[in-house]
Amino acid sequence: MDTFLWWRDGVIYQIYPRSFFDTNADGIGDIKGILSKLDYLADLGIDAIWLSPVYPSPDVDFGYDVSDYRDIDPRYGRMRDFDELLRQAHKRGIRIIMDLVLNHTSEQHPWFQDALTSRDSRYRDYYLWQDPAEDGKPPNNWLSMVGGSGWEYHAETGQFYFHHFFKQQPDLNWRNPEVHKEMLDVFKFWLEKGVDGFRLDIFSAYFKHADFPDNPKKLWGLRPHDRLRHIYDMDQPEMLPLIREIRALLEEYPERYVVGETFMATYERAAMYCGDDLLHAAFSFREFLEGKWRAKKFLRAIKRWEELLENKAWPNYVLNNHDVVRSATRFKSDANDARMKVAAAMLLTLRGTPFLYYGEEIGMREMKFSKDEILDPVGRFYYPFYKGRDGCRTPMQWDDSPFAGFSTAEPWLAVNPDHKQRNVKAQAEDENSLLNFYRALLKLRKEHIALMRGDFEAATHMPPNTLVYFRCTQEEQMLIALNFDRKKKRVDLERIGALGCDLIFSTHHECGEMNHCKEFWLEGNEVAIFRLKSIDD
Ligand code: GLC
Ligand code: CA
Repeated sequence: MDTFLWWRDGVIYQIYPRSFFDTNADGIGDIKGILSKLDYLADLGIDAIWLSPVYPSPDVDFGYDVSDYRDIDPRYGRMRDFDELLRQAHKRGIRIIMDLVLNHTSEQHPWFQDALTSRDSRYRDYYLWQDPAEDGKPPNNWLSMVGGSGWEYHAETGQFYFHHFFKQQPDLNWRNPEVHKEMLDVFKFWLEKGVDGFRLDIFSAYFKHADFPDNPKKLWGLRPHDRLRHIYDMDQPEMLPLIREIRALLEEYPERYVVGETFMATYERAAMYCGDDLLHAAFSFREFLEGKWRAKKFLRAIKRWEELLENKAWPNYVLNNHDVVRSATRFKSDANDARMKVAAAMLLTLRGTPFLYYGEEIGMREMKFSKDEILDPVGRFYYPFYKGRDGCRTPMQWDDSPFAGFSTAEPWLAVNPDHKQRNVKAQAEDENSLLNFYRALLKLRKEHIALMRGDFEAATHMPPNTLVYFRCTQEEQMLIALNFDRKKKRVDLERIGALGCDLIFSTHHECGEMNHCKEFWLEGNEVAIFRLKSIDD
């Protein structure tokens, strides 16, 4: 096997630091907490951590409003703790990916504070200021993603500034060469520290049209924001050269990686930004992050993604993050996690870098909050229509103690009461647990080059509500069969050209050689992985 390339062959684990592990009893997870769980992560078998923001932030959007790009928020620790995390992670072969939120700053960022003082401020043009329309209204029809106009009036200086998110997150003016330079310096700062990569928060919205024209209207769409065609407030042509520049900078360092969060992503939009001289990867995956439990839908999404990225970039797959309903809840998983195992097997055996989200490995569920418990401002704004993102951000469930072993103090966000049964400690001791399933599969992935690097080929025939596909390299060929259904399904091995194969992994069957079986009966929600016999076997 030629050399292992971490971002292609490995698995990336997202940590939402506030909720991972608290070491100083203030109810907020911290960097020392992550440090003390590195062995857990190494043992799980992941290769990199994507850290959600740990920079100083007034937390209007829980870290996604940054007031200093080159420091660590004291609640998470100090820079020396971060340096130690980097050192200790690297010692265990775990890489660190930083989340960079460069579309906007916090309103508390010194640049914005200065920009507010006068139209002549040195930093005024770091942001997007426009005069009111003739009737005193906002300069155009652009809306904020989280509700209402995207323009906020600043009476003292008589102009509006633009914000894609909350008004406390003013968008930066990327057309200003000074902003451009400052931000590239931010990349350099973290690269020089030795971080291994970046996740770019809503990167495709950095540039807006220079003349601020109205966005054309659409007839349909759930929210007003969906009823605009966003052709002027995102996806501007200036983005591609900028990405090339970022990638060129990364190429000056060995094995660095950049993955983008495409704003309002379709597969096409996300793929547009990936390539050898562009981003290594971009997130899209509506079916994976937002869809329901339907094998057919997943297959369609996989084929589309494979096709769009062919000869361009290495795919990536993700079922959870800090913005969407947890997959266990979304997929209506049963208490013993049979569906979660099928989902995990799909994520870990497709051709592409898998991203996990803390707690996914123990099947953490979305937690429900009542109206006055909601902390996420998006949830407070849209309630009851949309209840926000707190439900997927609850503290990691380490054990069955009162605060789930996350902290000895009251956590910033309530722990899910199901931690009494569902926690790392209990699952570590149960050989059939989801946690041990993840461990086993992550190990299997590492042992088989075809599972990491093989081509993807959908089987020519699949029973309804199953996924059956091959992963092949010159060295080995694997067949993966996943039953999304509770009913048994017959896989016609002869028909799909998989006559000689050994079962090497299964949730239901004994593994072993299968002597030219023509068919294989998948049990309900079974995961079965076969290795095809080669001619010399
Ligand atoms: C991204 C983040 C989300 C945040 C938003 C604004 O979508 O994932 O959590 O609210 O950007 O920064
Ligand atoms: Ca803490």
